[in-house]
Amino acid sequence: MVGSAIWRALSEKGYTNLIGCTSKQLDLRNQQSVQSFFETEKPDIVIDAAARVGGILANNNYPYQFLMDNLLIQNNLIESSLKQDVKKFIYLGSSCIYPKLAPQPLQEGCLLSGDLESTNEWYAIAKISGVKACEAIRKQFGKDYVSLMPTNLYGPHDNFDLQTSHVLPAMIRKFHDAKLNGNSTVALWGSGSPMREFLHVDDLAAAVVFSMERQFEDNLYNIGTGQDLTIKSLAELIQHIVGHSGEIIWDSTKPDGTPRKLMDVSKMAKLGWTAQIGLEEGIRNTYQWYLNNQDNFKEVKI
Ligand SMILES: NC(=O)c1ccc[n+]([C@@H]2O[C@H](COP(=O)([O-])OP(=O)(O)OC[C@H]3O[C@@H](n4cnc5c(N)ncnc54)[C@H](OP(=O)(O)O)[C@@H]3O)[C@@H](O)[C@H]2O)c1
Repeated sequence: MVGSAIWRALSEKGYTNLIGCTSKQLDLRNQQSVQSFFETEKPDIVIDAAARVGGILANNNYPYQFLMDNLLIQNNLIESSLKQDVKKFIYLGSSCIYPKLAPQPLQEGCLLSGDLESTNEWYAIAKISGVKACEAIRKQFGKDYVSLMPTNLYGPHDNFDLQTSHVLPAMIRKFHDAKLNGNSTVALWGSGSPMREFLHVDDLAAAVVFSMERQFEDNLYNIGTGQDLTIKSLAELIQHIVGHSGEIIWDSTKPDGTPRKLMDVSKMAKLGWTAQIGLEEGIRNTYQWYLNNQDNFKEVKI
């Protein structure tokens, strides 16, 4: 989802000399393959949009893959970039790197100030290690290796598999299926009370291009909208957009995750970047993409 959005954004801005690969073409967990790819292609700038990504269920069931695949992918990319003298490296982490009970909105400075949310600690520990690797390179070698921490993302090319997806695409699929099958009730995970922030992936892509075109003084920047809503309100909005009418049943036996996760986005705003796509507009755009891609939307299996 993120890689293709960044590719679209770069192409729209007129960048042409882009190199990208699927995991089948280049398994980033394989150090030798990554190093020889770098020696052949000699990139000037590297944007790491590759990761083992998933929601609470996937993180819970596959802790080893979420820790180790992410460590291998990012370590190989960062190390090869340093060896090949790549001048700019953009590392994408996630808001789950911040402690579960950190003061809200989450500031970059609260990193490593408390315990992580246990449902995704494996992923978070890998991501924190990537932030620190980029910070170490900046400190030791003076290179502009920067970490961007996006909030929850959604948009075209999201993962719509109900076992591994994030909350927003899972809700789109559940309400859509219920509408098609004439089901009046839709069961959703948790209590509906946690608060979350959502950013359209095209906004993130714009932030990545913005960051690529500037020299950064610091190593870590939050990327979000700075606005959140309850999961219950999100469900009602998606139900309305999809056109399903019926009852939502909240399954409180399932985990809620962190009670609130709102980014402080003032650091990036001071540099001149803010999100542009409203939540309702973004969900409408994503649902339309889902409808247009019924034969080939992504379902990530682990
Ligand atoms: N989705 C979110 O809500 C969210 C929020 C915050 C941050 N992020 C960050 O954004 C980045 C991208 O996430 P996404 O949502 O775009 O995930 P995604 O749609 O699942 O894409 C992940 C990408 O990683 C590639 N990949 C996975 N394993 C690989 C491997 N071993 N070798 C090479 N490529 C591999 C996949 O390639 P193939 O498809 O070819 O297998 C895919 O292109 C991640 O760093 C993630 O932490 C995402």
